[in-house]
Formats: sequence, structure tokens, C-alpha cells
Amino acid sequence: MEKNIALIKGDGIGPEIVTAAVRVLEKVAEKYGHTFHFTDYLLGGAAIDATGVPFPKETEEGCLASDSVLLGAVGGPKWDSQPPENRPEKGLLKIRKAMGLYTNLRPARLYPALKDECPLRADICARGFDLMMVRELTGGIYFGDHVRETAEGGVTDPATKAWDVEVYSVMEIERIARAAFEAARKRRKHVTSIDKSNVLATSRLWRETVHRVGAEYPDVTLDDMLVDNAAMQLVRDPAHFDVVLTSNMFGDILSDEASQISGSIGLLPSASLGDTKCGLYEPIHGSAPDIAGQNKADPLATILSAAMMLRYAFDMTEEADAIETAVDRCLNEGCRTADIARGADTKILTCSEMADEVIARL
Ligand code: IPM
Ligand code: MG
Repeated sequence: MEKNIALIKGDGIGPEIVTAAVRVLEKVAEKYGHTFHFTDYLLGGAAIDATGVPFPKETEEGCLASDSVLLGAVGGPKWDSQPPENRPEKGLLKIRKAMGLYTNLRPARLYPALKDECPLRADICARGFDLMMVRELTGGIYFGDHVRETAEGGVTDPATKAWDVEVYSVMEIERIARAAFEAARKRRKHVTSIDKSNVLATSRLWRETVHRVGAEYPDVTLDDMLVDNAAMQLVRDPAHFDVVLTSNMFGDILSDEASQISGSIGLLPSASLGDTKCGLYEPIHGSAPDIAGQNKADPLATILSAAMMLRYAFDMTEEADAIETAVDRCLNEGCRTADIARGADTKILTCSEMADEVIARL
């Protein structure tokens, strides 16, 4: 197959981890007889520096015309003084919206090889876990009005009041609920829907709507959990969860929690999908400006995101499996970046060396 892949290296460690993942993809192409064409686009801080805006038109057009987008990370302290509309993160939110990527899949599982990194109690760790966050990505409080107001009701600082508005329509809840039930059908057929329906109107609509959609999936078990309880259950009994269905904000928070209990935030990939095959694939971690440019970052989350791209965007199941197996073997055989290297039998690797190890096992 021949595919056009848009690359957004982004900021901080972004260029290093994307370069590592591209090398893995090139190996896959060679091995399985595919051709991948890669084109670089700017987003976030790098785009602000080069063009003045975090999401240039050229990036929007190029990504929409591509078969899929692979992204590293955006943001960093360098752009902290940018006005809210022009922050690097805004570029990420805009590209998700422009591409219609309302479904964010964030798998998290405990890698047996990383048990020692898991901060959970040994008996909880021993039970393991394997869950899939299905996070709504283009609605909710992220995309409602963000307002600062001065004492006189004006907009010029200093503000004395500020508010952010959470809005969800039935249509938005229905389509993300369907994505969660469909995902559950391919897994253990259990959806836990997260809300705060004891307080929020949006959450009550969320719960009603999810149950109505759930009735179309009688083979899938549905339960509800308040978000504060979910935060607790994730560390008390993560094995309870199969598919976790969340709003944009709750999913942002809970997915970081899930990543930490899986042993390392440097390992978790994500896929952002809409109604077409063209999606965006990125690690869930950030741009780690403190270690940028040092060839220290763990590229595995980006490499696993590339595997998700092969699976979801290109239907290349065998190729995706091959990458995931190679990563598993690396971890089982002691390959670690410095952030999670502990114990005598681990091999401490740089970012590029980790890519070498994955490639060698392909
Ligand atoms: C994530 C990130 C983003 C989000 C930020 C960078 C805007 O934290 O992908 O989880 O909040 O969605
Ligand atoms: Mg986040």
C-alpha cells in the first residue's frame, strides 16, 4: 500500500520521538512492501515561531489531505506569555476540531515488565489491568466560552471574574457513546461511563443519553461512575475497568492517572478519530522541555501511536501487531530509557537506541 503521512514533530522532545517512530515505520514499509510518504507540518510553538500562529492554514490543508497524521508533542515555557488564543495548545485543540476528531482512544495496561514502576500496592499490581479510555475530544468545557471579566463588566485586565462553559449536545454524547460501545464489543464488553451527575446538568444529559445508546448494545454491560469515585477506583481496583467513557475534561485528567499506574507515561499512545479514516496519532505525554534535545526521551509511546495508526487508519493489523510485539519484547528484555531504568538487568538506552532495539526486533 502507498500512504501519505503528515508529520507534526512539534516542540520539546517532539522531533526526537517522531524521528524514532518514522524509522520504525520505514522498517515496517520495507518488510511488508509498503510505501509511506512523509511530509512535515508545523503546529504549536514551532508554528508560532515560524508563522506567528499555532495552527497555520498550510498545516490544516496538508493534514486534511493526508491519509493520517502522526504528532509528537506541543508546548513549552517559551510560549507561556502568548495570549490564550495563540498558545501552542490552542494549535492542538484547533487541529482536533478542524479534522473532526471527536473520539480519543487511550489504551492503558500494566506491562508485566514494568511492575516495579507501578506505584500501586503489590497485590493490586499483581491483578494487572487493561483498559481503554474513550475520551470525547471536540466538545465540553474545552470548547465552550472562556471569559475573563473586569469589575466594570469589561474585557480589559485586571479581571475580577472568569468562567468557562461546559456544553454538550445529545448528538455529541451519542456519537462518543457509540464509539465506546463499539470499542467494548472488541474487548471485554464492559463500559463504565464517567460523569458528575450529582452536580452537573451536562452530566445528567450525558448519563441519560449514554443509557439510551446503551440499549442498542444489550451485549455490553454499562455502569456509571462519578468522576471522583472513578479517580479513586483507578488506583484501588483498576482491573474493574474495560472501556472508560468520559467527557473531554474528565478524560484528560483520568488518562494521566491511568498512564501513571501503568508504570510510565512514556509508554501510552493515543488515536484521535472522527468519521473518516484520517486520524491523528500522538503519545499522551507532553513535550518535556526539560529533556528536549538530549536524546533521552522514551520514544515508545510515539512508536505505539504509529502502530495504532497502522491498525486504525490503514487496516494493517499484522504490521501493527508486529510493532507492538517488538515493543513488548524490548521491555521484557530489559530495554529502558533512563527515566524508568532500575535494577541490574536493565539496559539504559537513548531515544534513538530504543528505536534501534525496536527495529532490530521487527
Ligand atoms: C492531552 C493534553 C492536551 C489536552 C493539552 C496539551 C491541550 O493534555 O492531549 O491530554 O488537554 O487535551
Ligand atoms: Mg492531558
